[in-house]
Amino acid sequence: MFSWISLSNFRSYQDLRWNPDPGVNILVGDNGAGKTNLLEALTYLATLRSFRSAPDEALVTETQPSAVVRGEVLRGESSALIEVEINRKGRRRVRLDQKSLNRRAELLGVVRVVTFLPEDLDLIKGSPGGRREMIDEVAVQLWPAADLDQSEYERSLRQRNSFLRAGSRDETTLQVWDSRLALAAGRVMARRARAVQELATSLSATYAQVAGHPSQVSIQYESEWGGTADPTTPPAEWATALLEALVRRRRPDWELGVTGAGPHRDDLRFTIDGHPSRFQASQGEQRTLALSVRLATHSAVNRLTASNPVLILDDVFSELDPQRASHLTAALPSSQTMISTTHPEEIPVPGKTWHVEAGMIR
Ligand SMILES: Nc1ncnc2c1ncn2[C@@H]1O[C@H](COP(=O)(O)OP(=O)(O)OP(=O)(O)O)[C@@H](O)[C@H]1O
Ligand SMILES: [Mg+2]
Repeated sequence: MFSWISLSNFRSYQDLRWNPDPGVNILVGDNGAGKTNLLEALTYLATLRSFRSAPDEALVTETQPSAVVRGEVLRGESSALIEVEINRKGRRRVRLDQKSLNRRAELLGVVRVVTFLPEDLDLIKGSPGGRREMIDEVAVQLWPAADLDQSEYERSLRQRNSFLRAGSRDETTLQVWDSRLALAAGRVMARRARAVQELATSLSATYAQVAGHPSQVSIQYESEWGGTADPTTPPAEWATALLEALVRRRRPDWELGVTGAGPHRDDLRFTIDGHPSRFQASQGEQRTLALSVRLATHSAVNRLTASNPVLILDDVFSELDPQRASHLTAALPSSQTMISTTHPEEIPVPGKTWHVEAGMIR
């Protein structure tokens, strides 16, 4: 959990220090007051990414060259100091207890957060990309080294695609790219399949909590080119399957200049009581399911990493009907929690109230 955080030239904050309560914190403020900015900064300290998918330069106050976000996190008896300098031009610098870190994976896991955002509510009905991103994030939370494999996969994919488009039809070179791609893909897919299995453990239970009635909810990793995933499939087996698929798809890949098989084409399939959710579940069921996925993530991270992730709920309650909102709050685990809202009367949970306005919090 966070014991304090300080922001300098981060978005709308010139200079802020905040000591959140270890329990529930409710951030109240008008539209544009800076609530999301503050929650974004907390998440950035944990993940080195903006949950709005904003590039680093968008995080720096408009007139400034760089921003600094610092924070102290408590882990049981020990504490850690995280410092990030975000530069409009050039690389960011990350330090953990005064030591410079070079890789994102080195910081992941120092403090973990589970975020609930209004756009999460479209997770189930939205495009596959959102679900892939979600499961990759879960994998990173569970196994920080997953970040290295994901980056390696993305790099190999970009390089293979540029090679396809470069115009040469050199099979031997393409096979080299195929092998690199497949190796990283195998690790990404094996981790995704295991993350899916971990979510599945509690998904029916978390769904029942938010819905207020029991249902059988399932989640499966699906690969159009490789079939349905068995979570015990080792990375090497995935890699072999992908290599075969790439050979089968040689011609369209050359023609289209894109890689037609691989984890970047996969999806998650959810069902509620046996019915596929993406195109069949009602809007309310889809939203309930999206919330239960986040709760199941918290539960999996808690179970596997013995850490209690900080809960961040940005403006979620205004999107929910009162019944679902009160079920959700009843289901929230007892972690440090940050909830933002423009309407505090809509928040059905007691907590310490903070007023956010114009770069200040009180
Ligand atoms: N890089 C930046 N430099 C300066 N100001 C910024 C920067 N990025 C965002 N802002 C300002 O921050 C404000 C938005 O803050 P934020 O999104 O945190 O509001 P909010 O309190 O969450 O509002 P809402 O209730 O509408 O979600 C905007 O006024 C925006 O102009
Ligand atoms: Mg906001």
